[in-house]
Amino acid sequence: MFNFDFYNPTRILFGKDRLDSIHEYIPIDATVLITYGGGSAIKSGLIAKVKTILGKRKVYEFGGIEPNPRYETLVKAVEIVHSNNIDFILAVGGGSVIDGTKFITLAASYNGDSRDLLKYGFRHIPADVLGKVVPFGAVLTLPATGSEMNNGAVISYEHGKFPVMSEQSFPKFSILDPAITFTLPRNQVANGVIDAFIHTMEQYMTFPVDARVQDRMAEGLLLTLIEIGAATVSEPENYDARANLVWSATMALNGIIGTGVPQDWTTHMIGHELTALFGIDHGQTLAIIYPAVLDVRRIQKNAKLLQYAERVWNIHKGNDNEKIDLAIQKTRDFFESLGVKTHLSLHNVYADKIPVIIEQLKAHGLTALSETQDLTLDISQKILEKSI
Ligand code: NZQ
Ligand code: ZN
Repeated sequence: MFNFDFYNPTRILFGKDRLDSIHEYIPIDATVLITYGGGSAIKSGLIAKVKTILGKRKVYEFGGIEPNPRYETLVKAVEIVHSNNIDFILAVGGGSVIDGTKFITLAASYNGDSRDLLKYGFRHIPADVLGKVVPFGAVLTLPATGSEMNNGAVISYEHGKFPVMSEQSFPKFSILDPAITFTLPRNQVANGVIDAFIHTMEQYMTFPVDARVQDRMAEGLLLTLIEIGAATVSEPENYDARANLVWSATMALNGIIGTGVPQDWTTHMIGHELTALFGIDHGQTLAIIYPAVLDVRRIQKNAKLLQYAERVWNIHKGNDNEKIDLAIQKTRDFFESLGVKTHLSLHNVYADKIPVIIEQLKAHGLTALSETQDLTLDISQKILEKSI
């Protein structure tokens, strides 16, 4: 196992009827900005409930944070923070609203052109670059990204999606009430199952470092997602299935399973380019790219692929290659069983677009991906060819 630091200060308020806890964890004299997305939280009545709970606190609102939140949208909220002396932000939404809110808090504390904050990639923005960062909490409406308990955001600007990380970007608290997610459309639930599954895989499917706790926690999350995936997509009000999805998605990317292990974020990096270029939902890009990554990297990932085949899919017969083939097939079948397409051509993107995707990977410096940083553009090309 590698050395690691683990830090996660987010308070999780999980379960039925937890919304009232907002009152306890937002200072009574705070001036609050509520951030939300395109209107689902208004339609469901959630924003009205939140406002009632905030009671006499002075409240401002900023709606319209779009999926794959855009820099140009978020800077408008920065002005509201400055001009109204906002001292707490409450994000009500999915990964896009929570990520967007993280960026708003950072940009509001930065004395300069906030596009500078998009340049750090996976490195933490140094604390001394930022001033006082406004604290924020979240009411999660879509289980998928883990943003409710991590310190990362992904911000869209021009034709790219830029990771932004800061030690000061953990939510102070997140309300995880599975019932709040009942209004999600089917495709977004499926996206969430896949995002959580791939987050887990990208911290698990590398090479063995004898990290038994992390491996078995990851396998537990994968098995849970496989068990509840179909039910939570087709039975939106099945509380127990949804509760397991919500907690799996949070656990998949709150840092715990990624401690002390190699990680391979290839699928996310290529997937982000597909979203930026073709507008394909984040979760769906992952379902397209991942089976091809496993296939193309079967030698580098041989030992973990066999462990995955045996422990997650219960495959014990056949030679190594046959076990790996079957594990990849079962992974693809699982994604498709949720109603998600696993080929680019089914999104009307064909091989003629591969050069454009490769160009974007190059422009964003994504030329040495994977746990061993030897996944060059020609290997990304092979992955894309197999994803068509
Ligand atoms: O905007 P509204 O009207 O609220 O509708 C949203 C949106 O259209 C809707 N929705 C959310 N909750 C709902 C609901 N509709 C009905 N009922 C509810 N309860 O769902 C749509 C998608 O929402 P979005 O927030 O975009 O989805 P998701 O949570 O999948 O977030 C995706 C974003 O997160 C980033 C992605 O790149 C993408 O930008 N990621 C963030 C990560 C992180 N911070 O750690 C890691 C991930 O890998 C990912 O990259
Ligand atoms: Zn993701």
